[in-house]
Amino acid sequence: MILLGPPGAGKGTQAAILSQTLKIPHISTGDIFRANIKSGTELGVIAKRYIDEGKLVPDDITIGIVEDRLKSDDCINGFIMDGFPRTIPQAEMFDQMLDKHQKAVELVVNIQVPDEAIIKRMSGRRMCACGRTYHVENNPPQKEGLCDTCGGTLYIRDDDREETVIERLKTYHQQTSPLVAYYEAKKLVLNVDGMKPIDETTKEILTAIEKK
Ligand code: AP5
Ligand code: MG
Ligand code: ZN
Repeated sequence: MILLGPPGAGKGTQAAILSQTLKIPHISTGDIFRANIKSGTELGVIAKRYIDEGKLVPDDITIGIVEDRLKSDDCINGFIMDGFPRTIPQAEMFDQMLDKHQKAVELVVNIQVPDEAIIKRMSGRRMCACGRTYHVENNPPQKEGLCDTCGGTLYIRDDDREETVIERLKTYHQQTSPLVAYYEAKKLVLNVDGMKPIDETTKEILTAIEKK
């Protein structure tokens, strides 16, 4: 399954819940880049340059890390891709990668949220290194500043500053939104309204999976 949508649509939020429910891994290229930035790897140094400007990390680098991640045993029964693919070349490479293992994309969930709502949402987002995402108003943790799952200290992402969010939205409209038509042509897209409460969106996605 692929979760598609603009920055702040709720891809990470839904992916974390679905991963627990369906017992398949949540793979976020953004989380992989951020973990590399934190530990100061070469990949992290390169990725940071693009992420801080709201631009995409080059396709060859991104495709390489996904290819590596999919080699893990935990991916055998499926996985949830959050934030990948994000360009047409990434989608084409991904199809080829899966095809080699007699697999294919089964469902593409397109989470729709208008640009104005996104800018507001991002300012209240809080993240945990374990992959869970919170919002100070819409989805607060039980104890302020701490993750419900792992007790980790929540942090604000560097790229959630308003100027960067505006750049990320531009990047999304130019490079990522064409993927909706790419997957619609393959009849794989489920459009969901990302402005509804989080649990309603989750239910909608689970119902679509049951039908498949
Ligand atoms: P990435 O980490 O993927 O960021 P993104 O796509 O911009 O998306 P976000 O993580 O910001 O939003 P989300 O949809 O996960 O929303 P969330 O659930 O957190 O990528 C970061 C950067 O890495 C990119 O800019 C790029 O540079 C690089 N990168 C990553 N992948 C790449 C690739 N494939 N190719 C090239 N470069 C790549 O929710 C947002 C907030 O809203 C939270 O506070 C949440 O609590 C709240 N919320 C969620 N749902 C709801 C709801 N229904 N109602 C109210 N509030 C809600
Ligand atoms: Mg995310
Ligand atoms: Zn955590």
